[in-house]
Amino acid sequence: MKENQRQLEYMQKVAEHNKGRRLKYCSVVFGCQMNEKDSEKLSGMLEAMGYIRTESEAEADLIIYNTCTVRENADKRLYGRLGVAKQYKKDNPDLLICLCGCMMQEEHVVEKIKTSYPHVDLIFGTHNIFKFAELLFTVLETNDRVIDIWEKTDEIVEELPARRKYPFKSGVNIMFGCDNFCTYCIVPYVRGRERSRKREDIIKEIRSLASDGVVEIMLLGQNVNSYGKGLDDSVSFAKLLDEAAAVEGIKRVRFMTSHPKDLSEELIDVIRDNPVIARHIHLPLQSGSDRILKLMNRHYTKDDYLRLADSIRTKIPDISITTDIITGFPTEEEKDVEDTIDVIERVRFDGAFTFEYSKRTGTKAAVMDGQLEKETVQRYFDRVLKKVQDISKEQAKRFEGRIMEVLIEGINEKDPLMLTGRISQNNVVHFKNTGLSTGSFAKVRLDECRGFYYNGTVVS
Ligand code: 5AD
Ligand code: SF4
Repeated sequence: MKENQRQLEYMQKVAEHNKGRRLKYCSVVFGCQMNEKDSEKLSGMLEAMGYIRTESEAEADLIIYNTCTVRENADKRLYGRLGVAKQYKKDNPDLLICLCGCMMQEEHVVEKIKTSYPHVDLIFGTHNIFKFAELLFTVLETNDRVIDIWEKTDEIVEELPARRKYPFKSGVNIMFGCDNFCTYCIVPYVRGRERSRKREDIIKEIRSLASDGVVEIMLLGQNVNSYGKGLDDSVSFAKLLDEAAAVEGIKRVRFMTSHPKDLSEELIDVIRDNPVIARHIHLPLQSGSDRILKLMNRHYTKDDYLRLADSIRTKIPDISITTDIITGFPTEEEKDVEDTIDVIERVRFDGAFTFEYSKRTGTKAAVMDGQLEKETVQRYFDRVLKKVQDISKEQAKRFEGRIMEVLIEGINEKDPLMLTGRISQNNVVHFKNTGLSTGSFAKVRLDECRGFYYNGTVVS
């Protein structure tokens, strides 16, 4: 029997065990779009088991925390939440607490949870998420705690149910894991080796999403530019992107994340020539210093990055380039920070996530000499942050007055008379609600740039 069929049977078994009671689940997700996507699958499975969704942990019969461990504060946030959940369990002894995701792939974390958080009922990792129903069934049948962490997997289980957060847009996994081993990064250890999904499975999923009303998709992978390695029918990421954009009903395609060492001119050309592909590239720089880039094992230099950004900006002038930057990597000096600032000024990033270096046990950087004092890391961080903020504000000004296609994402959170949407470049726009519906496109004039977002007016 195929694995997804087995799991569908377990979903049925859980539903039978719960005897048709309308139990409530709460899904809490930390971290990146990959985790968001995984949580949509977990929610889909829970709903297939008869659970109904609640946004409140306090009123749930089952809480599932999908964890992130990319930086230390993600870990801290989870422990805080688990402490609070202990009280919920006192109020409702039948409450089930489940943990999964990247943090659970770390042995020391699971040990800590076993000893300090005995109220957790189920722990599994990133490789066996598809087994959730089976594991939950075991918890229910045995009334015992279940811990199942796999070190790796080659398996990709297709066609499990998913509950999408948005009806009109969706992430689509194209690959799992990462083989790059940037020296600061825990991802290759917790998400395993790079595995690409078959192109026909990806396209089939996109077609099915489109027929379900999805108009925007985001192709997801840790390093999408190396898509296809190890597949029999190998296509480049550029070709896959073109094919995804050709699926009927799909109006906008995004992708995340690119690695500068693998981003090809072919890809830049495909984006330039295909208006369905969003005018946005997220291209993590991490550092502008050649010395630090080498220590990070990034396989490109400052000049390589500048050349690449220049080619992108020349071929696609309207594109927005965003980035990730780490400050305070071991041995970083003022002159390295100067190099990073130089790249920021020359590329003129439209947006940037800046992170203080966080030491992750098990990575190469964690045991490097020259770990910096907190104050130094903070000082570098403040300088870089100020620079990226100033530049991205100036960059956003360049679209002021333009009429842009906006995908309407919903009613404005602060003002119900307003709608909020995104332009192809990914910037947010607020404008008056003239009766347009969520998930549709509108032509909006960007009247005023307010730093990171615009106020606009619908023109048609
Ligand atoms: N410390 C700080 N930032 C990190 N990132 C990944 N690992 C670390 C770490 N140990 C950042 C990188 C990456 C983003 C997703 O998170 O900038 O691109
Ligand atoms: Fe981590 Fe580098 Fe892989 Fe990104 S490319 S997930 S930073 S190892």
